[in-house]
Amino acid sequence: MKKTIIYTYEELASSSELSAEDQELFSRASAAVKEAQAQFSHFQVGTAARLMDGSIVTSSNFENTSMLHCAEQNLLLHLHSMYPAFTIKSIAVTYKNMNDGTDSTMPITPCGKCRQLLLEAEISVGSPMRVIMGSDNGKIWVADGVQSMLPLAYSGYI
Ligand code: THU
Repeated sequence: MKKTIIYTYEELASSSELSAEDQELFSRASAAVKEAQAQFSHFQVGTAARLMDGSIVTSSNFENTSMLHCAEQNLLLHLHSMYPAFTIKSIAVTYKNMNDGTDSTMPITPCGKCRQLLLEAEISVGSPMRVIMGSDNGKIWVADGVQSMLPLAYSGYI
């Protein structure tokens, strides 16, 4: 028997079409792009999470000689260590590709490992985490939860 998974997400022409609350979150993620340490990939990523209490926490990618650390993973590790009881309501991610001949107009989509981490954060809260995927002056994609972004996700022990 063949089975099909349908994935639905929203596309906006620019961040100005987001709600005022999400525009604030997105602009904090954009500001975090400038804090990225991406001397190997020259691909700067910024992220901002809105917690259930309304506060915003930001992070960016951090590269060193032994590893490239994604912005979303840094954010989650920071929250785990500083605020173990954190609950994320929504997250925005955006980037700037500094490599020659590239632009940054297509939305960034979180890597597989980040999706798994975000999914587990979503499951621990028990309600969908909205994911706002952005670009530098380009389109925005909005997903209404992480679960649909990681079909058939590993969930062996949770
Ligand atoms: N990166 C992120 O920060 N988030 C993602 O979802 C994908 C990739 C970073 C890791 C690395 O520093 C750079 O982007 C190039 O892959």
